[in-house]
Parts: sequence; structure tokens; C-alpha cells
Amino acid sequence: MQATLIKYLLASDAPVDEVCVQGWVRTRRDAKTFSFLEINDGSCLENLQVIVDATLADFEQVEKANTGAAIQILGKLAPSQGRGQAWEVVARSLAIIGEAGPNYPLQKKGHSLEFLRGIAHLRPRSNLFGCVFRVRSRLAYAIHRFFQERDFLYVHTPIITASDCEGAGEMFRVTTQPPTGRGGNGEGEPLKEFFGKPTYLTVSGQLEGEIFATALKNIYTFGPTFRAENSNTSRHASEFWMIEPEMAFCHLMGCMDLAESFVRYLVRDTLETCGTELKFFNRFVDRGLIPRLESIASRSFTRLNYGEAVKLLLASGKAFQYPVEFGSNLQAEHERYLTEVHFEGPVTVYNYPREIKPFYMRLNDDGKTVGAMDVLVPGIGEIVGGSQREERAEFLDRNMDRHGIEKEEYWWYRDLRLYGTVPHSGFGLGFERMLMLVTGVSNIRDVIPFARTPGSAEF
Ligand code: 4AD
Ligand code: MG
Repeated sequence: MQATLIKYLLASDAPVDEVCVQGWVRTRRDAKTFSFLEINDGSCLENLQVIVDATLADFEQVEKANTGAAIQILGKLAPSQGRGQAWEVVARSLAIIGEAGPNYPLQKKGHSLEFLRGIAHLRPRSNLFGCVFRVRSRLAYAIHRFFQERDFLYVHTPIITASDCEGAGEMFRVTTQPPTGRGGNGEGEPLKEFFGKPTYLTVSGQLEGEIFATALKNIYTFGPTFRAENSNTSRHASEFWMIEPEMAFCHLMGCMDLAESFVRYLVRDTLETCGTELKFFNRFVDRGLIPRLESIASRSFTRLNYGEAVKLLLASGKAFQYPVEFGSNLQAEHERYLTEVHFEGPVTVYNYPREIKPFYMRLNDDGKTVGAMDVLVPGIGEIVGGSQREERAEFLDRNMDRHGIEKEEYWWYRDLRLYGTVPHSGFGLGFERMLMLVTGVSNIRDVIPFARTPGSAEF
């Protein structure tokens, strides 16, 4: 008999004579003539209550139904006698599929996030991480829906690449060379590059995305990206997922419009489809979560240019750790001041000084700023980074020279400016940062199944 997911049993509108349930025991309570089991199968936050009567032939099995054990139950779905749930299952038979020894680490509730990070192989079985990863799955689906509904094509850009899109030199090398550095090649010669040139894990699919946008018009990527920046913060991971749309015939304003409606769409979708999980987060993780998400979903975002943002920060009278001046990068503390204190909502900052931005951004007519934009949100700071791209060949060449980039290495990128060049724009949304926004979870390590951060890759 096929098992039914617990979320469907709990939502049933009628009793069912024969059901099969498969899951893991959360708790067991023994009375004289029966035992109560709470079973969870990951399909929803709630457990299913199962009653095992002492008259059952395999009742002695109940002894082994400890917290953490895998179990299968056959029985009937009946209105619950107790309070707190509409339905329960009265067992006809039970089978212990896999026992859990007395050292099972998740016996009790209320473990710290740090403790759970140390058992990343078991933490998906906790209430919190079950909720996080159900929301993560749904958010991925909503992202595809958003773009597919708007006729954007999904493009798979490579993970191994020879180019440094962001020009920040924060790339992981891809090599077949043994860890000793040399070897296997006769007289201690350096090994040949497997791909004929140095290669790296990609920091962004943007450059390849531009290739496809200048053929298929509107595209998006959604895949893993890697950054070897040594920043041990709660918002940075060495491996994270990014969504990067790229639009041909699109200027900076259209790019900001899309980014803002994208973020709002994802917030709204989570509110509409993950209500139980959001209530859980609102109760145990962040008491202001649901009102904040409702406000983000309903209001348009504030827009201001970089110069105005700097003025506001200077006028704030706040003693920031990093002083602000025109030409400096906005730090997380500045971004959070703008979104949390000054505007109390998301803010899109655009037209940054060209010196602090990558080579591919389009120079504005003032000759000083580029058509860049960042979407900032409360609690996190930057969640989206994007720009209009430099589509004029001679300007691009000048940018590359200024950034010390070997133009010949990017001959294919420059070709796009020689054959049918067109104004085009795009942005990157950090998938984990978006998850932090919708769950209220404040550490990026807790919204990704297996966090990769400096010094840590156990699981
Ligand atoms: O601002 P970034 O570096 O922009 C790009 O990579 C562009 N090529 C995107 C584009 O225009 N197609 O990164 C984009 C977003 C950031 O706003 C942030 O949300 C996320 O990616 N991000 C990170 N998330 C987690 N850990 C890190 N180390 C991150 N670095 C960037
Ligand atoms: Mg950025």
C-alpha cells in the first residue's frame, strides 16, 4: 500500500478506512492500555498522532519506537478524541523500519543553532530546519514561475570558467594538480592545465548570460556561484546560489523595475503558500517577520541615487564604524541604516561612482558614475546587485584598460559589442539572502543545506 503524506492526512475532509503512514517518531507517550506516537514525515510542520492499542498483535514493537526511529503504520484515519488536532490514526499494525539508539542527538527541543550546525546531517529533522528547507524549495519554484510567466528563458551557464566576472580576484582554482603543488609529470614539471588555461569556479553567470540575452532577449540563470572572499560574516558564504536575469533592449530603469517586482513577488508568494512556516518563524525566530513581509509586499521601494544616499548618511549624525564619504563603498551598517532606520523598508540605490564598480557597468553621461543599482532590505542590506552594461565597444575597452583586464582574453565579450550591440541590463539576486529575508533567519549558514564558509566544509 502506498503511503500518504501526513500533510494530506491532516487536511482530510473525511475519515479514511485504510491509510499507510511512513515517517520518523518525534515522541512517544505510554499509557497502561495504549501508546501515543507523534510521527513527522517532513511534508509539513505538524506531527500526526498515532494511537497504538495494547491489544494489537505487534504491540511489543512499540518499545522500539523511540524518538528518531523510522516507522511504518497501517491503520485508519479517524476524528481525534483529543484536543489540538482534527485527525489521528488508529494503528492496525506497525513496523519499525530503522531503530534510533538512545544517543540520537535530537531527543529534546530547543537546541541552539550552533549545536544544530554541528549536526548538519540531522538538523533537517528539526522543526526549524524542516520549515527552512520547505520554504527554500518553494522559493526556487516561485523564482522559475516568475520568469517563465514573463517569457524569460532559463539558461545554464558554466560552473567552470576562465573569466573573473566581478574582477575581484576572489576565485577558487579548478585544477587536477595534486595538493603538493607539483607531481606526476616526469622531472617535477608543473602539470599541464586540464583545460589548456587556468580555470576557476564561477563567481557569476552574468557574462555568459549576456551572450544569451543578445540572442534570446530575456534570459535568467539560477545556479551555484563561488567566492573565495575571506569574510566570515552572517551574510557571506563561499558557495551560494544566485539568480541572474539579463535583458536586451533594457535600460537601468527597466532593470530596477524588474528587480523590485521580483523581490515583491517572492515575498508575496511566500506569504501565500508558506503560512504555517512563516507563523513558526514569526513565533520562534523573529517576532516582526510577518508584518515586515506584508509591508514589503504591498509598498513600492524607495529609490535614491548614490549621492543622495551618502548625503543622508552624513546627515544622520550616526557614528558608523566605517566613515562615509562620496566615493566609498556602502558598508552593511550604512545599508541597514537606510533600510531599517531612515526609510523603514527596502531601498534601491543607483548610479554609483565608477571606481568602486566592475568593468562591465555602463558609464553615465556625467563621466563619473555608472548605471549600477543595489536593492537593500531591512535586516540584511544588499540583496540584489545589478547594472546596465556598457554596450559601446570603445567605452568598454577603456573600462577594461582602467581595470587592468587583458582585452584579448575577453574577445568573445567584446564581440557582443561589435555585432548587433544593444543596451542591456541585468542583476543578481542572492538566493540565500532572499531566504534570510522571508524566514527572518539571521545567519546564512542556517538557510543553506550544507554551508561552505572559510575553514568549514565538514558535511
Ligand atoms: O553584487 P554581486 O556581486 O553581483 C554580481 O555578481 C553580478 N554579476 C550580478 C549581475 O548583475 N548579474 O552579487 C549579486 C548578489 C548580491 O546582491 C548578494 O545578494 C549575493 O549575490 N551575494 C552573496 N550571497 C551570499 N554570499 C556571498 N558571498 C555573496 N556575494 C554576493
Ligand atoms: Mg554587489
